[in-house]
Amino acid sequence: MKIIDGKEIANQIKEEIKKDVAALIDADKKAPHLAAVLVGEDPASQTYVNSKEKACKRIGMTSSVYRLPEATTEEELLETVDFLNKDEEVDGFIVQLPLPQHIDEDKVIQRINPAKDVDGFHPVNLGRMMLGQPAFLPATPHGIMQLLERSDIDTEGKHCVVLGRSNIVGTPVSVLMSRKAKPGNATVTLCHSRTNNLEEVIKTADILIAAIGKQEFVKADMVKENAVVIDVGIHRVEDQSRKKGYRLTGDVDFEEVSKKASAITPVPGGVGPMTIAMLLLNTYKASQNEIY
Ligand code: GUN
Repeated sequence: MKIIDGKEIANQIKEEIKKDVAALIDADKKAPHLAAVLVGEDPASQTYVNSKEKACKRIGMTSSVYRLPEATTEEELLETVDFLNKDEEVDGFIVQLPLPQHIDEDKVIQRINPAKDVDGFHPVNLGRMMLGQPAFLPATPHGIMQLLERSDIDTEGKHCVVLGRSNIVGTPVSVLMSRKAKPGNATVTLCHSRTNNLEEVIKTADILIAAIGKQEFVKADMVKENAVVIDVGIHRVEDQSRKKGYRLTGDVDFEEVSKKASAITPVPGGVGPMTIAMLLLNTYKASQNEIY
């Protein structure tokens, strides 16, 4: 059984981008700039945005954070998006989700210039991805594809079962896995809350991608011998033996499933570290007009 080390692979990717950024600076070009918009005080969102800022700094990119109060109106947020769309210093930006209830997320995402949409959430980028055209790919699905590619996992002709149909993970990764590409060329089944005989379907997976949001849902008896298991879940479980008082687990019962899988991603240290690396990669590509 092989543990797919997302932390190591993410570090490799960040090192590659760091070199590319250094080459730009050496050539007297501007460092790529990522901006993030954070509305309100959600602690998890604050942590994510801080990590993104730190990651930029470490690889030589510049960044800025627009912190707006919880009471920001939709119109005010749209004005901030318009400002960032126009700001030539900014190569790419994200609006951290979730947004407060009174703001229409779809409306905000649709206002972002697709050429600066480094989250890959704009309908134009998702449509281009769907058609196999150049696009900013959403970070988590893109990170999963990189993990498979850099771990030399053969996906061609394999049965890939995806658990969960969210807009940011399950649906896009099912498209990427079925595309005529390497990695890709898999036969994909997308499972969700209305799927009949879910456990039987999971058992047929050569590659299982779990993004269902249920702690340790996938057990060893559901998984085929030698399956490749990618765990997108992240859950806090109280654990007083840990310094922080909790530990992290995924959508997969790692302890038992790892004994049966041929390769598996751990939580933490699997898919998670890949997402920031992919955001940085998109920001670099935006700065070099590689997509648009
Ligand atoms: N909230 C959780 N994940 C993400 C992400 O990848 N991008 C943004 N903008 N918000 C998020």
